[in-house]
Amino acid sequence: MTLAWVLTLWMLLLVPRLGAGRPGSPEDASFYYGTFPPGFSWGTGSSAFQTEGAWDQDGKGPSIWDAFTHGGKGKVLGDETADVACNSYYRVQEDVVLLRDLGVNHYQFSLSWPRLLPTGIRAEQVNERGVTFYSGLIDALLQSNITPVVTLHHWDLPQLLQVRFGGWQNVSMTGYFRDYAELCFEAFGDRVKRWITFSDPRAMAEKGYETGQHAPGLQLRGTGLYTAAHHIIKAHALAWHAYNSTWRPKQQGLLGISLNCDWGEPVDMSRPMDVEAAERYLQFCLGWFANPIYAGDYPQVMKDSIGRKSVEQGLDMSRLPAFSRQEKGYIKGTSDFLGLGHFMTRYITERSYPSRHGPSYQNDRDLVELADPCWLDLRPKWPHSAPWGFRRLLNFAQTQYGDPPIYVTENGASQNLHCTQLCDKWRIQYLKGHINEMLKAIKDGANIKGYTSWSLSDKFEWEKGYMDRYGLYYVEFNSRNKPRYPKASVHYYRKIITANGFPNPREVESWYHKALETCFINNQMLAAEPLQRYMQMATEVAVPTVSALCVLLAAVLLVLLLQARN
Ligand SMILES: *[C@@H]1O[C@H](CO)[C@@H](O)[C@H](O)[C@H]1NC(C)=O
Ligand SMILES: *[C@@H]1O[C@H](CO)[C@@H](O)[C@H](O)[C@H]1NC(C)=O
Repeated sequence: MTLAWVLTLWMLLLVPRLGAGRPGSPEDASFYYGTFPPGFSWGTGSSAFQTEGAWDQDGKGPSIWDAFTHGGKGKVLGDETADVACNSYYRVQEDVVLLRDLGVNHYQFSLSWPRLLPTGIRAEQVNERGVTFYSGLIDALLQSNITPVVTLHHWDLPQLLQVRFGGWQNVSMTGYFRDYAELCFEAFGDRVKRWITFSDPRAMAEKGYETGQHAPGLQLRGTGLYTAAHHIIKAHALAWHAYNSTWRPKQQGLLGISLNCDWGEPVDMSRPMDVEAAERYLQFCLGWFANPIYAGDYPQVMKDSIGRKSVEQGLDMSRLPAFSRQEKGYIKGTSDFLGLGHFMTRYITERSYPSRHGPSYQNDRDLVELADPCWLDLRPKWPHSAPWGFRRLLNFAQTQYGDPPIYVTENGASQNLHCTQLCDKWRIQYLKGHINEMLKAIKDGANIKGYTSWSLSDKFEWEKGYMDRYGLYYVEFNSRNKPRYPKASVHYYRKIITANGFPNPREVESWYHKALETCFINNQMLAAEPLQRYMQMATEVAVPTVSALCVLLAAVLLVLLLQARN
């Protein structure tokens, strides 16, 4: 408790200093006018569990997230579920219209493994209605000239794989994942040319197996997450090799992984301890997955740190599993591009107080992050959310992993539930700032091929329920039809896409004003929504009631009439 107070006080003292001192160099602060390379792919994205709904429809099996959200109180804010979510399962055509209105080149979405394989195991059962659903979505996108970018797994593991095998704790997941991936290549690979195996596997491992904030809600501190990640990396490599040897010759697509990481900036650049702590932050975040895939093994600093602590804890083996020599060779080079997700910048300092608890990921990293968890509250006041950290992350990825082709797979800003405002000035500033820093990173030499703004619409935000809103489109979740309304950022993003960048100050300034004009009108429509809902409910309830009353009345009259005749 005292420690928490000291930290809080220290942060309060530090935050104004950081705000004033950054971002030091002048080129960071200046806006860069220019355009992206021709053919740059603009898009937006979503994931299956967060949007589809229809959780038990048309033969879909339950996922660990269905079990988690149905599994009692206190797991998700407001005890929300994603049983309906955006109802996207039944709204494919409408969502494609939204994408067309945005003018995107690609749409990144994930497949629900248990929708395709209800038990998770291909040899047991394939759900043909699931195949038909995704096939229809892919066709609808292609007909609108939108490239489908397909993520195989975004956290919603089939529940039966969890129950029967312990999920990613069990090495057998690797084989089941490969079988599932091959089904997808076979069913959709004639039309899908860009595949992502896993989306943000670090959160999947850390929140699912270490903190328990996410499904499957396990707290196997200091071990569970490393085991899960180990198997995820192997599963990724298996899927890549299957694609490379069997499917690529026919289908000619690309397959990569998508890794999320915030930028870690040393609190004090002149303190080597802080600089090292920031480096550790990045290696434990991005390097954990990227290093095996690009260099064949875990980052040295992870092996050293976790190994040393395991010895101190009296273990005779490191809690970080090791790859065999053969595995290293098999895993190295298994990504045709690096998918990179990025949301914010954190300030990192060395931890100067001793760890109090047993083994954990936190203790293994030995650092303190200053932007978390206060970031969420500070955010509206934090000037432009430090978009320069995005450029640094892109440059870091470029130099660390041998200049790979990079697709930005997730980047976006959330707003709180209570802001039903469609005039999302904050998101426009975020988009503008981050896309501009990405443009600077391209000028620096990074090979960035595309950008996915996260996300298409508001959706189920995992443990946050429907509190956090990341959407370019607003969703009225209280309404049964889940109507979508464009926020101002839709108009702004469309302008960036059309211009393929930022042509000149005058034009970019005019986008902002136009975007805000249109959102005022949409705000009025949204304000009328409760009235529409009421009227809809009135017709739905009133019409059957009135009809029933009429029938009843007619029957009574008939009886009276008959009696009168007698
Ligand atoms: C993995 O699954 C197999 C088969 O059910 C089981 O025998 C084994 O104990 C599991 N391993 C772990 C680590 O849970
Ligand atoms: C990928 O497939 C190509 C063509 O079949 C093959 O030449 C190459 O060796 C494969 N790459 C790896 C790393 O196995």
